Amino acid sequence: TWTMASFIESAVAEIRAKVGSGKVICALSGGVDSSVVAVLIHRALGDQLQCIFVNNGLLRKGEAERVVNLFRSHFRINLDYVDAADRFLDRLAGVTDPEKKRKIIGNEFIFLFEEEAAKLGAVDYLAQGTLYPDVIESVSTKGPSAVIKSHHNVGGLPEKMNLKLLEPVRELFKDEVRLLGKELGMPDEVIWRQPFPGPGLAIRCIGEVTRERLDILREADAIVLDEIRKAGLYREIWQSFAVILPVRTVGVMGDARTYDYTVALRAVNSTDGMTADWVKLPYEVLGAISSRIINEVKGVNRVVYDISQKPPATIEWE
Ligand code: XMP
Repeated sequence: TWTMASFIESAVAEIRAKVGSGKVICALSGGVDSSVVAVLIHRALGDQLQCIFVNNGLLRKGEAERVVNLFRSHFRINLDYVDAADRFLDRLAGVTDPEKKRKIIGNEFIFLFEEEAAKLGAVDYLAQGTLYPDVIESVSTKGPSAVIKSHHNVGGLPEKMNLKLLEPVRELFKDEVRLLGKELGMPDEVIWRQPFPGPGLAIRCIGEVTRERLDILREADAIVLDEIRKAGLYREIWQSFAVILPVRTVGVMGDARTYDYTVALRAVNSTDGMTADWVKLPYEVLGAISSRIINEVKGVNRVVYDISQKPPATIEWE
């Protein structure tokens, strides 16, 4: 019978046979798929695997530290940590158009990744966390007109870099990747992480992406996740997050007038991200999130809840 343990055994054998004594690089995003793939390949190849993690300055609070800790200290995987926050944020200065943001971030990532890979010398394979649904989707009949938002992961890299692909989970579904991660000893925190978009907080910072507004968003977002976890809802919700709007409104604090930003909350349920419904969060949870954000995050005096379905609204605001 087919078990995860036997899957690991055959996957490890297959990876070894395929790669031989070659070198593999893997772009870690912090998400479930790339993390599981990295740990699986490491199990097969040890130090022949080199991971690269780019901090683009658009990550959630504490995310970079969590990734570095888990891979370097816990799994002892070679990890090249690239702090490129300034590069990304400088390029994003003054940009408000959602597609321009996505393009800038995607291009800068490829540029940086190539640069880092070149420093590592000869590389034979690029590891990717392609899943079975991605395989099906890419051979479906969707034309370019179906592109509503240009998604950014590591698309475009293999062709540009002349690398062969290593995709050891391309026959698995998401729930199987989670089981695999569990079997490989990965913490629940990673296995059950809600999806997070490649362009990160940039597409949740409506209007200009400045360091000041990113800091506000990062704090608000951390509160959302903290309260959702405390309420025991984290795993059952597809995604829950904060969005900072380019709108300031009037408020009152003590006996002073304030004129601060508005934060929107978004929580959706979905099975594949293609359609989604807003979550009927308990009022107490909404209330707790709202008062904590307004009291704890300087620069915010109003919180609203997004009650739109996808379609016609998308999950992310940009
Ligand atoms: P939308 O906003 O299109 O999002 O309803 C559907 C799902 O995809 C995620 N998303 C992205 N993921 N790179 C990614 O890796 C991207 O550029 C990107 N844009 C959106 C989004 O968070 C949701 O889960």
